[in-house]
Amino acid sequence: MEFRKRVVPASPFRLESHNPGSLDDLTLQPTERRRPGAGEVEIRLHSAALNFRDVLKALGVYPGANPDEVVTFGGDAAGTVVAVGPGVSQFRSGDEVMGFVPVTYSSHVTASARFLSRKPGHLTFDEAVTIPAVFLTAYYALIHLARLQCGERILIHAATGGVGLAAVQLSQRIGAEIFATAGSPEKRDYLRSLGIQHVMDSRSLAFADEVMEITKGSGVNVVLNSLAGEFLTKSLGTLGVCGRFLEIGKRDIYDNRPLGLYPFRNNLAFFAIDLEQAWDVYPDVITGLNEEMMELFARDELRPLPYRVFPVSEVVEAFRYIRQTRQIGKVVISMDCDA
Ligand SMILES: NC(=O)c1ccc[n+]([C@@H]2O[C@H](COP(=O)([O-])OP(=O)(O)OC[C@H]3O[C@@H](n4cnc5c(N)ncnc54)[C@H](OP(=O)(O)O)[C@@H]3O)[C@@H](O)[C@H]2O)c1
Repeated sequence: MEFRKRVVPASPFRLESHNPGSLDDLTLQPTERRRPGAGEVEIRLHSAALNFRDVLKALGVYPGANPDEVVTFGGDAAGTVVAVGPGVSQFRSGDEVMGFVPVTYSSHVTASARFLSRKPGHLTFDEAVTIPAVFLTAYYALIHLARLQCGERILIHAATGGVGLAAVQLSQRIGAEIFATAGSPEKRDYLRSLGIQHVMDSRSLAFADEVMEITKGSGVNVVLNSLAGEFLTKSLGTLGVCGRFLEIGKRDIYDNRPLGLYPFRNNLAFFAIDLEQAWDVYPDVITGLNEEMMELFARDELRPLPYRVFPVSEVVEAFRYIRQTRQIGKVVISMDCDA
């Protein structure tokens, strides 16, 4: 496959796609900076993290996307505040921040201060961007919704992905027994190196029988699921009485795939999770959880994920790399390397 660096225009710039469906159409385009309005700050970005949904958006297959709009990418970013809008008291120019911004692969962005946190001083910008979306999703799911307890069993699918590894850290901290799946021998070796006892293949339905055999038929208490189709149904079947199912993949939901209610006779709960929607509807709850979680990072009780960095001129290679499903942890785009 052709390897072509993208030209990085003089600042300000951002990544755009005018023809979603092909990664070749992704280009870094000159753009305009915007002065922050009320409740906003302007940030000079240093690092951004690639999320799986960015690839789906670039390929034009993200559920709900408008095919007539120019595609830009929003999500995890870290940088330095360069301007502060009216009503923002928690940040000043020069502060190093991390969090969620509307346009990530860009030199500058104006963003709501509400979705930003102060970057812990001991973390680099690249380390910081491995945290926001994946850890907050895992934290919201495991801690707030499932209330995972010490000694409980949890099945974490695709556990070397971003949300998966965040869930592994949180589960180990709580003292839960982890059953984890991953798609290749290298990934499974990595999970074993983290001390996870029960490691299985995420590309085979055999995991369900393995879980039931290891647990002598009693199953797990919590499932964190990002797999679709029969994998979802089989995963639901591994839940024991009073089990909690945390659905983050959502493909079956958008496909309106039916699911029988019979397993729910066992006091099961099914949580269909959309972090952004939850943050819109319960801003104080999710902001509170984010603050709680960031406090753990500040105290070094949670650690950033492993990552691989690409300079922004090689952003398309990063999109291709993530499609190959070989990465463990996050893929990070550095705006500093050659901007
Ligand atoms: N609902 C929400 O609010 C929310 C929030 C964040 C993320 N999510 C979703 O949760 C899932 C995991 O997110 P993530 O950030 O952890 O993603 P990620 O870091 O990209 O990991 C995804 C994992 O999925 C597996 N996979 C299977 N087929 C794949 C493919 N064709 N391309 C890439 N990966 C593939 C890979 O694991 P194996 O190779 O081991 O199978 C990979 O490690 C995604 O579906 C994402 O959209 C939902």
